[in-house]
Amino acid sequence: MSAPARFEPCGPLRGRLRPPPDKSISHRAALLGAMGEGTTRVEGYLDAEDTRTALAVVRELGAGVRELGAGAGGLEIEIRGAGPLGPGKAAGSGGEMEIDVGNAGTLLRMLPGWLAGQGGGSWVLDGDESIRRRPVDRVAEPLSRMGGSVSCRDGRLPPLRVEGAELHGVSYVLPVASAQVKSCVLLAGLLAAGETEVVERVPTRDHTERMLAAAGAPIEVREGTRGRAPAPRRIAVRGGGGPGPGTVAVPGDFSAAAYHLIAALLVPGSEIVVEGVGLNPTRIGLLGILHRMGAAVEVAEESQAPGGEPRGTLIARHAPLSATRVGAEEVALAIDELPLVGLLGCFAEGETVVAGAEELRHKESDRIAAVVEGLRGLGAEVEARPDGFAVQGLGGLSGGALDARGDHRVAMLGAVAGLASREGVDVAGMGAAAVSYPGFENDLAELLGG
Ligand code: S3P
Repeated sequence: MSAPARFEPCGPLRGRLRPPPDKSISHRAALLGAMGEGTTRVEGYLDAEDTRTALAVVRELGAGVRELGAGAGGLEIEIRGAGPLGPGKAAGSGGEMEIDVGNAGTLLRMLPGWLAGQGGGSWVLDGDESIRRRPVDRVAEPLSRMGGSVSCRDGRLPPLRVEGAELHGVSYVLPVASAQVKSCVLLAGLLAAGETEVVERVPTRDHTERMLAAAGAPIEVREGTRGRAPAPRRIAVRGGGGPGPGTVAVPGDFSAAAYHLIAALLVPGSEIVVEGVGLNPTRIGLLGILHRMGAAVEVAEESQAPGGEPRGTLIARHAPLSATRVGAEEVALAIDELPLVGLLGCFAEGETVVAGAEELRHKESDRIAAVVEGLRGLGAEVEARPDGFAVQGLGGLSGGALDARGDHRVAMLGAVAGLASREGVDVAGMGAAAVSYPGFENDLAELLGG
């Protein structure tokens, strides 16, 4: 185990930053490219542990992956699709194939959607210690309803065994607001007889829908309203059509940029410009929360990238903050940034509450425990609740030590807490950041003039 990384209180953050490519979109580019019949070109694929794992896995399943070089902050790659039924053909009548997803929860939840419809094949998905604690009954259940043969340890946890079967379409109302589950069912629907519909009562990130539509797959999104209130979103796919060839340009990852944005908001005198960042409305719930807190964040420009994803420039400056309450309706749109709301709460005036976020307990770590115990160790007054946390604004944090718990987002939170603290923070397990953002510390150092 390497020594803890020390983050000292710092002077202002200044300058421009291009965050690493989006992790969610990179995972989808690997999977959809592999499912396609033609060749998909990915401009700016995320070069990080999780998404390298995705490339290794789709290769094992029969896709061709060619790295053309590095550019625009990520990898330029070409994926020659194995085709919708590729893994089944490759498996033939052979035995069971083991698939190691490492730490990648998105791969763990989405991949079974592709595999469940492959007659003749049999796969076991497993991963690291954290993956073994992540519930997969949420994907086993809808796939079983579709006729899939999927089982997991204790009915809930990995390893997850998938035996290919003939699937039929269903209408599935998501019991948890999860884009991973939605995506899994939609991918399975491409291999199922008839129509498969996923109904989501609250919107979750819609990258899969956008990317399938951009790749010409048979998908239809039915947005509705009930009087003035939004009605559930219904997303339907038809079986028999896979994604076609094309180009995906991956925007910068808003979730990665959020660490620098928050550091700039908290450290007096800071002003940073974040360029090329994905601004998909289903990802940027944090911006609404920040505006309510009185934070100075502006969206300067916006454009559309090939693959259907908006991107733009954000400017963030230090300003005093007031407390806010984040409720269930906002949770899915800011899920990965909610730990940072806990950190902001330590600096804001009043009590900041996050509620309706029980899902945080099922991430790479139990992020409610990680935020509460982590920030408490740095001098915060914070209380855990079953579905979130409440933080008292004490005008800042003293500092101390924080354990990343093998969770990339907790590691990066600890680093930002250190910069904004009075005495600095030692982060044990900072290496976890490489799961999504290997260049995190370098980028931070550049903004600090280092
Ligand atoms: C993701 C969806 C979210 C998010 C995760 C990535 C995705 O998980 O927390 O980091 O790429 O679809 P859930 O869909 O399980 O909420």
